[in-house]
Amino acid sequence: MTRDLSRIGVAGLGTMGAGIVQLCVEAGFETVAFDTSQAAGDRAAERIGHFLKRKVEKGTLEAGADVAALERLSPTTELSALAGCDFVIEAVFEDLEIKRALFAALEDVVSADAILATNTSALSVTSVAAATASPQRVVGMHFFNPAPLMALVEVVRAEQSAVTAVETAVELARRLGRQPVVCADTPGFIVNRTLIPLLNDCVRILDETGVSAEDLDRALELGAGWPMGPARLLDLVGLDIHLHAAEALYGKLREARMAPPPRVVRMVDAGKLGRKTGEGFYRYDAAAE
Ligand code: 3HC
Repeated sequence: MTRDLSRIGVAGLGTMGAGIVQLCVEAGFETVAFDTSQAAGDRAAERIGHFLKRKVEKGTLEAGADVAALERLSPTTELSALAGCDFVIEAVFEDLEIKRALFAALEDVVSADAILATNTSALSVTSVAAATASPQRVVGMHFFNPAPLMALVEVVRAEQSAVTAVETAVELARRLGRQPVVCADTPGFIVNRTLIPLLNDCVRILDETGVSAEDLDRALELGAGWPMGPARLLDLVGLDIHLHAAEALYGKLREARMAPPPRVVRMVDAGKLGRKTGEGFYRYDAAAE
């Protein structure tokens, strides 16, 4: 059994939030996009407009469908604007206390049967759900970066999640054109449990073998069929995001491979976060991003 969906809310309009909003408006949902920062909302709308226009130019979206999609987007800096949403996907900063506080506040805003999903890389969905008085309506929906291009969504069943909440999240993921996989609430779920230590290994290999980032990437692309090498992927994901996820997984599992390599910590300290700051393992031209 699933809940009817017509209006979706997205809370947090960074890279992931903007990508999720793009999927929602493209799929025909009225979408309320919330961020406390007006600038973040403006950037997200601009980014979504850019990518939709590119799709029209390339013929993967009908002419005019980009404009129609943008008309379904309602940006807001007021949490109360999420009141009429049937389903809210939270994509704020990866900090458990920030997420828990937002869920507690959201619960007071939305209707009693609205479903709430957290897009988290490595935090406990069960713990986010426990911040509410109605944890049965909370699930995890883990999208991958870039959300509009990556087909997978991990639908995470928290300890308290009701069947309706899980099934509705699966249905929503399908309507967004994604392929959902349902899993239990374990550290890193499926993909990050594998990918985070693998990327950590790649950074350690960079130091141990003395290869360049370019050669490391070439090796994994040509020798293992990766669509983009690990250095380029870390720059795309953001070194800060990777560091948070690695620390969270190491904190829970105490497996040495989960611990962030010192090079990653140094890069984050230096503000070399990847594409978003113009430098990570590679340098980026801001105008081209
Ligand atoms: N949002 C929306 N649309 C985008 C986009 C974005 N961020 N980036 C690119 N596009 C659109 C563009 O319009 C682009 O066309 P254009 O350049 O002509 O304008 C179009 O998509 C195609 O882009 P590309 O030609 O770059 O597409 P590729 O075929 O090279 O594929 C890729 C790109 C899908 C990103 C591929 O390289 C890939 O699969 N990389 C690996 C990504 C990955 O592993 N992600 C997971 C990271 S881990 C994670 O997210 C978990 C988290 O918890 C840490």
